[in-house]
Amino acid sequence: MTQFDNRKIKRPSMLTEKQRSQIRACSKDEKSFEILIDILTSQQKSLEHAKSEFFSVIGHELRTPLTAIQGSLALLAKGVPGPLPEKAINMIEIAIENSIRLRDLINYFLDLQMLESGEAKLQLQPVELKPLLNQAVTNLKPFAARRQIKLILQEELPGIRVEADSDRLLQVISNLLSNAIKFSPSSSRITITISDHGTMGCFSISDQGPGIPESLQPVVFDKFVQADVANDRQSGGTGLGLSICKAIVEQLDGEIGFTTTPGSGTTFYVELPAAPPDNEFTRRQKRRTTTSQ
Ligand SMILES: Nc1ncnc2c1ncn2[C@@H]1O[C@H](COP(=O)(O)OP(=O)(O)OP(=O)(O)O)[C@@H](O)[C@H]1O
Ligand SMILES: [Mg+2]
Repeated sequence: MTQFDNRKIKRPSMLTEKQRSQIRACSKDEKSFEILIDILTSQQKSLEHAKSEFFSVIGHELRTPLTAIQGSLALLAKGVPGPLPEKAINMIEIAIENSIRLRDLINYFLDLQMLESGEAKLQLQPVELKPLLNQAVTNLKPFAARRQIKLILQEELPGIRVEADSDRLLQVISNLLSNAIKFSPSSSRITITISDHGTMGCFSISDQGPGIPESLQPVVFDKFVQADVANDRQSGGTGLGLSICKAIVEQLDGEIGFTTTPGSGTTFYVELPAAPPDNEFTRRQKRRTTTSQ
């Protein structure tokens, strides 16, 4: 696959237009305005840097003891130190489940933090949607089969290519597909389609699940949002999956959204810039290299 661009995720603009005009209003002249902007921008940069250092230290400090806890629990569950009564084994299983949940929470949270701060590196490539969707379907088939859920990949898939980071895009597809499976009734169907929207390539994942409750719809991409705590505890989610999907898709200059009918199903869709022909990638790549020199 042709690699045509390695870039850091776009950083959000440091100062908003409103903040800039407030600063302009209290600046004596253009020069003092520029100086103030520079000072504030560099302060914001160092605050962001400190924040991301903080998260990475916290991440390490949490992950290291958690790995040790998980190791000990696994040994206990296997009966390595000696046989345990049934009740103790049940309690260890609960502890293992919760330690997995905590590990996922830490990993998802750090991933989201990296995406939002612009530290996550994206490897942009022309990516064909069909093989990637196929891969996600293959990976998640056993999970769907356990609940007799059929995953249907549209038969006549156009060979659409988009500009994306294939690992990150697979992460988005897997999150959306696993949500669809998790929230679908058993013996239902999930349909995946690809469509060509001119300058954008699109895929969608439709389920026959309960839909997203009206109260949740405006905030469903926010962090830690889950419809029903009891149900989600059972399904073991963190409530960060959709926030991560949104962060990735936006960094890829795409759009993510959904349509839902409570009681009859939900469709999540993702639109990404269509990949131009290979010779255009090479031209762009050359232009980027020349400008960055
Ligand atoms: N296809 C869907 N049908 C119905 N509800 C959904 C669907 N997808 C997401 N939701 C609702 O949105 C919430 C947030 O989804 P999100 O993927 O962010 O978290 P999660 O799936 O609960 O946890 P995680 O992704 O960490 O496993 C879900 O808990 C669920 O209530
Ligand atoms: Mg999820």
